[in-house]
Amino acid sequence: MKMPLSLRVPTLGIVTGASRGIGRAIALQLAKRIGPSSSLYLTARSKQGLEETAHVISKEVNNNIDITCISSDLSNEKSVTKLTDNLFGDLRKKKSDFSHAILVHNAATLGPLGKYSREVSDAGDIQNYCLLNITSPIVLTSLFLQLFGENSGLRKTVVQLTSRSGVLPQKTMHLYGMGKAARDMYFRVVALEEPQVKVMNFNPGFVNTEMFSGLQGSVMPILDVKDFFFQSNLTFLKPEESAGAMLTAVEEDQFESGATILSYDVMDIDITK
Ligand SMILES: NC(=O)c1ccc[n+]([C@@H]2O[C@H](COP(=O)([O-])OP(=O)(O)OC[C@H]3O[C@@H](n4cnc5c(N)ncnc54)[C@H](OP(=O)(O)O)[C@@H]3O)[C@@H](O)[C@H]2O)c1
Repeated sequence: MKMPLSLRVPTLGIVTGASRGIGRAIALQLAKRIGPSSSLYLTARSKQGLEETAHVISKEVNNNIDITCISSDLSNEKSVTKLTDNLFGDLRKKKSDFSHAILVHNAATLGPLGKYSREVSDAGDIQNYCLLNITSPIVLTSLFLQLFGENSGLRKTVVQLTSRSGVLPQKTMHLYGMGKAARDMYFRVVALEEPQVKVMNFNPGFVNTEMFSGLQGSVMPILDVKDFFFQSNLTFLKPEESAGAMLTAVEEDQFESGATILSYDVMDIDITK
């Protein structure tokens, strides 16, 4: 068994969708585990949400962490370019300051709720969906690899948040499932191409967030609930529990790069009982 790799080193953390939900929890849990002289870059659309995340971190973590919040709409091409120009422009100046760089693709949306595929035909809306859920993680990953890929002294981790919807077809979950399936394969290929980078597809389980409550109104009646909840006793996690499981898996470093890791497995929760 490999020794765990401590996260308590000068770390660069980039977290998308950090204004609420699991993304906010990942930012906070990461801040609690990394070392002094670390930097966190948090992005989402809501400036207020990001500032609240930064506030919670500064209240709960006394670790001299530099936090930069960048408000950006990842479903808009110009906004993605502006974000990457700012982010990577900044990082170019301090790329040798860190021992570990971790990029977390957490931002996502469910897509048009409760609509069947035959009702979804607006090319602009579909394109915007893909920009946020597929294109933007690809762009960020590629730029991350261009900047840090050659640095053999730097530990590099890329995590993307995935879902069972990427492998299990469910009525009305067309765009969401497609987005997750596309991301899963993209990151499995990155794992093959970049042996120096540890890549994880992380399924956070069922987590009480705005996204999950969004499902409950219009979509839940359409879903085959027995299939969707693949356990008889549905175990809801708090965002901090799921985020903690993800970081524990990164720290323990037992997974194969490109693998899909389920929060419940890290937490030793048997969801089949
Ligand atoms: N909750 C679950 O049970 C569950 C299960 C499986 C997988 N997941 C995955 O876990 C991740 C986090 O989910 P969550 O439940 O925490 O969702 P959430 O509460 O809806 O949060 C989504 C985050 O994405 C950001 N976001 C949404 N649209 C954006 C846009 N156009 N540009 C930039 N950022 C945008 C939101 O911030 P702004 O609104 O401020 O932009 C927010 O910070 C997602 O990838 C999701 O697919 C969740």
